Amino acid sequence: MAEGRFKGLVVMLTGAAGGLGQAAAHRFAAEGAHLVLSDLAEVPLMALARALSEAGAEVLAEPLDVTDEAQVAAHVTRALSRFHRLDVAVNNAGIAPPLMPLTATDAETFDRVMAVNTRSVFLGMKHQLPPMLAAGRGAILNVASAAGLVGAGQMAAYAASKHAVVGMTRAAADEVARRGVRVNAICPSFAATPLYDGIADALASQRAEPRGDADARFTRRIPMGRIATPDEVAEAMLWLTDPANSFMTGQAVAIDGGLTAV
Ligand SMILES: NC(=O)c1ccc[n+]([C@@H]2O[C@H](COP(=O)([O-])OP(=O)(O)OC[C@H]3O[C@@H](n4cnc5c(N)ncnc54)[C@H](O)[C@@H]3O)[C@@H](O)[C@H]2O)c1
Repeated sequence: MAEGRFKGLVVMLTGAAGGLGQAAAHRFAAEGAHLVLSDLAEVPLMALARALSEAGAEVLAEPLDVTDEAQVAAHVTRALSRFHRLDVAVNNAGIAPPLMPLTATDAETFDRVMAVNTRSVFLGMKHQLPPMLAAGRGAILNVASAAGLVGAGQMAAYAASKHAVVGMTRAAADEVARRGVRVNAICPSFAATPLYDGIADALASQRAEPRGDADARFTRRIPMGRIATPDEVAEAMLWLTDPANSFMTGQAVAIDGGLTAV
C-alpha cells in the first residue's frame, strides 16, 4: 500500500463500519497502515474491508461486540498472530440514544450506553495495552465526545459515558506514560454520520418539525456554524496517533468547531 506516516504500522479500529470509522480506515490505509477492523455490523464491515484490500491495504476484519470481553481478547490475539505487532488502537465504537430528559431515561438504556461507550473502552485498553507495553511503543485513541467535556442536556447517559472515557483515558495515560505508550481521547461535537442522523431525525420527529430545524438547533451553538465532516475528525485521529506526535498523552482534544471554547 501507500507510502506514508503509518507505513507498515498496525492500526486496530472498532466501530469501523460507521461514519467516523470508515473515514478513519480510509485515511489510515492511505498513509500505509495495516488495518485490524471490527464492528457489530458485519455486512458494511466486510464491504469496507474488501474495498481497502482491493486498494492494496493489508486488512483483518472481524465482526464483534465491543462489550464482550472474550470477543475483544480473541480479536487482539488474532491481530497479533496475523501481524505480530500492534502500534495504534482507536476505540471508536459507540451509540447515542435519542435526546431525552434524565427522568425519562430508563435504567436499561443507561446501562446499554455505558456498556457500549465505556465498558468497551475499558476492555479494549485492557487487551490492547499488553502487546504495546511489551514492545515499549504504541498509541491508543479513545473516541469520547464534546459531551465528555461539558454537560449536554437531554443526553445524561451519553454524557456520563463519555466523561468516563475521558477520565479512564487520563488514568491509563498516567499508568503507561513511562513505558512508551501514549493514550489520548478525541472529543468531537457533531459530525455528519449515521449516529448524528439518528439524533437529529429523532429530535425532528419528537418536535414535529422539519429535519433542517433540528439541524439548526445543533449548529447554532457551534461557533463555526456547522457540524464536522467525518474526514475532518479522521484527520485529527491520525494526528493524535501519529508516532511523530510523540510528547502528547493524557489529553482530551476537542474537535468541535469551537463549541467547548465559548
Ligand atoms: N457523529 C457524531 O456527531 C459524534 C460526535 C461525538 C462523538 N462521536 C463518537 O464517535 C464514535 C463513532 O460514531 P459515528 O458518528 O461514526 O457513529 P456511527 O453510528 O456511524 O458508527 C458507530 C459504529 O459502532 C458500531 N457499534 C455499535 N455498537 C457496537 C458494539 N456493541 N460492538 C461493536 N460495534 C458497535 C456500529 O455498528 C457503527 O458501525 C462513537 O463513539 C460516537 O459516540 C460521534
